[in-house]
Amino acid sequence: MSTRTRTLIRGGLVLTAADELHADVLIEDGRVAALAAHGSDTAAGWTADRVLDATDRYVIPGGVDVHTHMELPFGGTFASDTFATGTRAAAWGGTTTIVDFAVQSAGRPLREGLDTWYAKADGNCAIDYAFHMILSDVNEHTLKEMDLLVEEGVTSFKLFMAYPGVFYSDDGRILRAMQRSADNGGLIMMHAENGIAIDVLVEQALARGETDPRYHGEVRKALLEAEATHRAIQLSRVAGSPLYVVHVSAQEAVAELAAARDKGLPVFGETCPQYLFLSTDNLAEPGFEGAKYVCSTPLRPKEHQAALWRGLRTNDLQVVSTDHCPFCFKGQKDLGLGDFSKIPNGLPGVEHRMDLLHQAVVDGHISRRRWIEIACATPARMFGLYPQKGTIAPGADADIVLYDPHTTQTLSAASHHMHVDYSAYEGRTVTGRVETVLSRGDVVIDHGEFTGRAGHGAFIPRSTCQYLN
Ligand code: URP
Ligand code: ZN
Ligand code: ZN
Ligand code: ZN
Repeated sequence: MSTRTRTLIRGGLVLTAADELHADVLIEDGRVAALAAHGSDTAAGWTADRVLDATDRYVIPGGVDVHTHMELPFGGTFASDTFATGTRAAAWGGTTTIVDFAVQSAGRPLREGLDTWYAKADGNCAIDYAFHMILSDVNEHTLKEMDLLVEEGVTSFKLFMAYPGVFYSDDGRILRAMQRSADNGGLIMMHAENGIAIDVLVEQALARGETDPRYHGEVRKALLEAEATHRAIQLSRVAGSPLYVVHVSAQEAVAELAAARDKGLPVFGETCPQYLFLSTDNLAEPGFEGAKYVCSTPLRPKEHQAALWRGLRTNDLQVVSTDHCPFCFKGQKDLGLGDFSKIPNGLPGVEHRMDLLHQAVVDGHISRRRWIEIACATPARMFGLYPQKGTIAPGADADIVLYDPHTTQTLSAASHHMHVDYSAYEGRTVTGRVETVLSRGDVVIDHGEFTGRAGHGAFIPRSTCQYLN
């Protein structure tokens, strides 16, 4: 549909990580062709097949969510969003690219895991997508395969210091994967929690009869996140590789990242909306309600939020992703009734990241440009998608959101589009709303209506990390 068509977005405030411009945006054949000051002779001279009126709207790059888990197998079940439902929900929320995690099954080749994930996504996605690879088993064969994946555009690898017996890698395996990535340009993403120690605390808590969801937060101690973060940083120094720590939630972990960055080390951190907006108060909700908020790293006491916001402002944290990993309350989360350690870990959120971070702009935590930087530009740079994704500039894919910064909306399972039976943000009112979304020039959300299609989204091979240059 987008071939040889010209679309004009007229009269909005174009926001990128660098600039705020009252500009018209001309789109040709799915890409941004030009920007010109609104009202200038140049812009006035443009004609188009379709004109989108952006008066009183922000015109922003589509969101880049570099941490999602569609259909992730976990805890004996699967994350409830498929690539079809999850990418559609993402589009509704103004996200136009996801980077999901392909999983290596222990003892199996990376190739097999990656091919399985290509097949899951192929023909189903409403928006563009890419993959990281989860390494469950670092050995001679998989180390060689890492090089091939980097060449194929799968340029980042997640390792787990948590989940012994599932995804866990010991320090030797981690070091070897880091050494390999130092060679091949891959970026190591770390789930930094001391899972060996946590499992001891889990066993002790259950033996004391502490089975409620809130104990998930108590045993997964902030100090054990900080310890693992520190250890990952030291291992990456020894290996000479950069490091990206995922889903940072503890203020002590932020301090480890900040200290490393003060030394000039190439160490990066991501946090997620749930850590910025939710807390252990949610985990402690009565009955089994707390299960809705079980994820790892866990939600922390509210006091940690200030350190996360500060980290986002000072660039000790660079990215906000969702770690979208939904499990229905009925039939999935309830696998852990009577034993918190059996609650599948993960929260739904792919639809709400852009709005929640806009609320952070309204609340004064971050600036408008920083909103775009942490949600669009830096994730794209960090994972080798820039400037195809993450900005509005000539030559970039026309992944663009017309954002209404004034309308309020109330987040609710009754109105969201994620395939999950609850909202972690039920009843929360935010200011701002995605109005219209373009993916490579095609309108996929039109004034709140989905006009895209499964299969429009394409696999995007990525270059290596561009945040180091
Ligand atoms: O609880 C979470 N975060 N579930 C998804 C898997 C992971 O560790 O990111
Ligand atoms: Zn319109
Ligand atoms: Zn993780
Ligand atoms: Zn995750």
